[in-house]
Amino acid sequence: MKENIENLKAEVQLEIPNITNLKQLMDFKVTYLGKKGKLSELASEIGRLANSEKKEAGMLLNDFKNFFNDIFETTQKRLEQVALDKKLEDEWIDVTLPSTKISVGTIHPLTLVIDEIEELFISMGYDVVEGPEIESDLYNFEKLNLAKDHPARDMQDSFYITTEMLLRTQTSPVQARTMDSNKDKTPIRIICPGKVYRKDDDDMTHSHQFTQIEGLVVDENISVAHLKGTLEVLVRKLFGDDREIRLRPSFFPFTEPSLEVDVTCFKCGGNGCPLCKQTGWIEILGAGMVHPNVLRACGYDPEKYSGFAFGMGAERIAMLKYGINDIRHFYVNNMNFLDNFDRLEKEDTNESK
Ligand code: PHE
Repeated sequence: MKENIENLKAEVQLEIPNITNLKQLMDFKVTYLGKKGKLSELASEIGRLANSEKKEAGMLLNDFKNFFNDIFETTQKRLEQVALDKKLEDEWIDVTLPSTKISVGTIHPLTLVIDEIEELFISMGYDVVEGPEIESDLYNFEKLNLAKDHPARDMQDSFYITTEMLLRTQTSPVQARTMDSNKDKTPIRIICPGKVYRKDDDDMTHSHQFTQIEGLVVDENISVAHLKGTLEVLVRKLFGDDREIRLRPSFFPFTEPSLEVDVTCFKCGGNGCPLCKQTGWIEILGAGMVHPNVLRACGYDPEKYSGFAFGMGAERIAMLKYGINDIRHFYVNNMNFLDNFDRLEKEDTNESK
């Protein structure tokens, strides 16, 4: 037995340098210590030995087991280290290599215009209010003094979903909703940006979906002077400190008087150029004093309260401000257009620093 064990030890020592990975090591262990392994083979011979020899044989087998396990452990550690070294070698990263360029998103020109207008009005104490894009006939038209036979209700202009529901054609229903939910509380000072929808054929200046920004102030003794002062602040913020505005009579069902607001051309300063079609003036928004019928329909006594409202197309403002010639640019996610535009913005902010 002793000889057999010595031979087995020698065999192990001879073979161990040939083992190069953990899998081989495990198989190796099974070969020697496994149920049907070489050690078991020897152990099965104990039965055949004389009683006096059995004890020593048992100790020898145990001794082999310890011998094997020691070698196994050191080899296992060595192979694990080899595996780790290989992994580190394979997965080595050169942190000094130049990185791949990450393209940073830019703020959409429409968002920039909306943010600028919102910021201005928030600084003057206005709240930003939003309303539903799927609107009822009641709020989109009726409460805004749009009689049933008003042309703006024509199926050609509006996307109706049912006879009572439609995609809002303007942000003015948010005025009515706000007044309705405040009922007699003043002052109301709100600005409402949002998408609106009209059955227009898309071209350079028309889109079936566009963005309006609505303003509303309701309080006691609000006059056209307040409206004019507010719009002057707005126009100077958007187009420069030297801008003047001009109010022209117009018609909206929900305002009386109604006004069309022009700004002195920021390209030629008012002398006349192609942008202002040689008139010196550019039309930018619609406005007026809230019609008494609207105040009444929304729970405000027109004898006591008055208000002004204005509404503008965010796309039109952005087109004028940044010299964009086609409204469709806003909706097609052309990265060349958007990146170019962002550069203009950055130059702008750098200059003002
Ligand atoms: N809602 C009007 C439009 O879509 C604009 C407007 C708003 C006019 C508020 C006056 C007052 O044309």
